[in-house]
Amino acid sequence: MAVLGIDIGGSGIKGAPVDPENGALLEKRIRIPTPVPGNPKQVMRVIQCIVKEFNWEGKIGVGFPGVVKRGVIETVANINSDWAGENLVTLIEDAMDCSAVVLNDADAAGLAEMRFGIGKEYSNDYVLFLTIGTGIGSAFFVKGELWPNSELGHLKVRGRDAEHRAGEGVRKEKELSWKEWGSRLREVLKLYDFLFNPDVIILGGGLSNKFERYETYLTKINAEVIPAKLRNQAGIIGAAIAADESTNIN
Ligand code: BGC
Repeated sequence: MAVLGIDIGGSGIKGAPVDPENGALLEKRIRIPTPVPGNPKQVMRVIQCIVKEFNWEGKIGVGFPGVVKRGVIETVANINSDWAGENLVTLIEDAMDCSAVVLNDADAAGLAEMRFGIGKEYSNDYVLFLTIGTGIGSAFFVKGELWPNSELGHLKVRGRDAEHRAGEGVRKEKELSWKEWGSRLREVLKLYDFLFNPDVIILGGGLSNKFERYETYLTKINAEVIPAKLRNQAGIIGAAIAADESTNIN
């Protein structure tokens, strides 16, 4: 049965009905800019708007950019701090006639990539999936099983959070060349590789389709480094998969 997948990001909130059996979007996705400052009330209004737009009454899966444990938002790096301690499952279920599952956005995108993207080929391996956007999100897959809420974007590299060294935000803000940014990303990936020794690192997020511009700078990393296939839809699809399976994956 179809599930409404919603991906809450720092700049946009996206949603579409998804067929969790094959990962297909059943209608054109909606994208609404994330309201500023993006507090729970404002974001809930956007979620309600997406639900209304699709006349939705079924299950909803939501990816959120922070640590999520049993529906509760535990950390807030790139979103309004009023979210800390809120139970997003309860907020949705109280406001709408829908049942909801909420998980970390990178965990959601990783689930989709493992099921329907390039990750399919690595289901017996140790996979580190990363989303590179404003923040860096991470998801570990141990022979296909997700270890949720890993938060590698906040590992310190040269005294700063990895996502502030090699995220898409800093690349744009400092107008870094592909070479400059690629070298920063390499340093971050080398640290992840050294600490966790994955077989493969899958790079997701908006820059996965520009992989050929910076892959040449990602040298001397033991793990294989490859781009994701599902691009920007992964978050929506993965949130829908999680809700479909109603897995308490966090
Ligand atoms: C957050 C993570 C999130 C990532 C990507 C980080 O700042 O702490 O939870 O997955 O950004 O959105």
